[in-house]
Amino acid sequence: MGALRHEHHGFSLYWEDNAVMAVDQRALPQRFELLRLESVDALIDAVRVLAVRGAPAIGLAGAFGVALSVRTHRTAGAVDEDSVRADAARIADARPTAVNLAWGVRRAVAQLPNGPQAVVDEAMKMVAEDAAVNSAAAARAADLVESLHPHRPLRLLTHCNTGRLATAAVGTALGGIIELRRRGRVAEVLVDETRPLLQGSRLTAWELGEAEVPYRICVDSAAAAAMSRGMVDCVLVGADRIAANGDAANKIGTYGLAVAAARHGIPFVVVAPESTWDPDLPDGSGIPIEEREAAEVTGDADAAVAPAGAGVFNPAFDVTPGELITAIVTEDRVVRPRDAHREQRAELIRSRI
Ligand code: MRU
Repeated sequence: MGALRHEHHGFSLYWEDNAVMAVDQRALPQRFELLRLESVDALIDAVRVLAVRGAPAIGLAGAFGVALSVRTHRTAGAVDEDSVRADAARIADARPTAVNLAWGVRRAVAQLPNGPQAVVDEAMKMVAEDAAVNSAAAARAADLVESLHPHRPLRLLTHCNTGRLATAAVGTALGGIIELRRRGRVAEVLVDETRPLLQGSRLTAWELGEAEVPYRICVDSAAAAAMSRGMVDCVLVGADRIAANGDAANKIGTYGLAVAAARHGIPFVVVAPESTWDPDLPDGSGIPIEEREAAEVTGDADAAVAPAGAGVFNPAFDVTPGELITAIVTEDRVVRPRDAHREQRAELIRSRI
């Protein structure tokens, strides 16, 4: 915990001396290191290789990327706005699934008419806002989960990393879990390791250790078995893009968790900021799903875990239908897509009678 607070103003991303400072999420859990990103290309690369990752964090990186571009395309007080807009489009394209990235870029670009400092100020404001928004969502998520089982310590399960590393600070689903621990309500967190890049075992486990929350790591395929053995009271995850009907994209494996949770009658809760909603999409079928390179699954030649040349299907995300989601918790509200879906179905049946 100290590392972030002392070296980095308490935020996982920050603007300092005309550069973006960010925790290098590839180095954890072995090393806590900061990256200094001085160019748009360096920032895009950091997002692509997941040195900076997590939907809210890449949204903030997007805004800072525009600030870097303004710095590059500024001569004698004037900013070459066409070049900045071209960079902004490249930044927004760095990864396709999380809607926060384009949102962050858009907010910073909107400040261009107000001058270079306004762009930096907007990005910094977004960092502070993200921390506040996550605190509110985490507290609301903790209230909701507490109300499910008011009388006993909770066994929670989470996937990927939704902590302060994936955001400016606090985290979303993991922020809720840490808040529940603060309230003395957590017996244990099961952390899916999250193949293939291990955001669960590398990052979530590290954050839980720092926050002194009891946890155990399980392989992703053990999650359903844990549920069937009565080891899970609630599943909490984040999201990268939520369609208007509550269908939610998140790290690959989330959909399978939701199916298993529904099978066992276990509440399945998504925690995400309002900026993760994409109101332009009526349902999840329009969410672009990033596919990543084979080597993430097969290992590199010197550490192969598959035959050379094996074909690979490596989607980074999947879409959980709203009908499997008990609640989506944001800084402003609790949405219940499963209930809405049931009501719609009942209405449909009534209209046919
Ligand atoms: O590929 P990643 O590691 O960027 O995927 C991240 C996730 O799927 C997170 O669950 C999501 O972005 C929410 S982070 C608060």
